[in-house]
Amino acid sequence: MTDVTQFDRIIDRYERLEESLLAILQDFQREFHYVPEEGIRRLSEVMEVPESKIYAMGTFYKALSLTPRGRHTIKVCTGTACHLKGAPQILETLERELEVKRNGTTTDGEFTLECVNCVGACAMAPLTLIDEEYHGQTRSSKIMDIVKKQAGS
Ligand code: FES
Repeated sequence: MTDVTQFDRIIDRYERLEESLLAILQDFQREFHYVPEEGIRRLSEVMEVPESKIYAMGTFYKALSLTPRGRHTIKVCTGTACHLKGAPQILETLERELEVKRNGTTTDGEFTLECVNCVGACAMAPLTLIDEEYHGQTRSSKIMDIVKKQAGS
């Protein structure tokens, strides 16, 4: 990804002010599903702000990711209640079927698979979140149907 015009198209939506940086990074995230290194470089050139400052923002804001992410994010809760009710089997199924390891992204860029700690909905255990939508009491045998349905494939 080296074509700077794709970054300029986004940067040009905003005034050349430091206050615009976060909004631009959020737009990068929306468009590319992460904040690409080349985008940070270009933003630094155009806005005359040190790259280190932009990286610091990228690291600080949880909604921004500096590594490529899938179009869909699957989060498997591995808190105690979910663990006891079958989270490990759900995770194994997802890793096997999607051919991805936890905290990884599928090669086609469709899915990022993550583990999260208790999200406070233990009554729904085992819990899987797909694009922030809660799917409770999921069985490992059903998880791929849910993923496909939610991802619209
Ligand atoms: S342990 Fe999963 S929601 Fe609490």
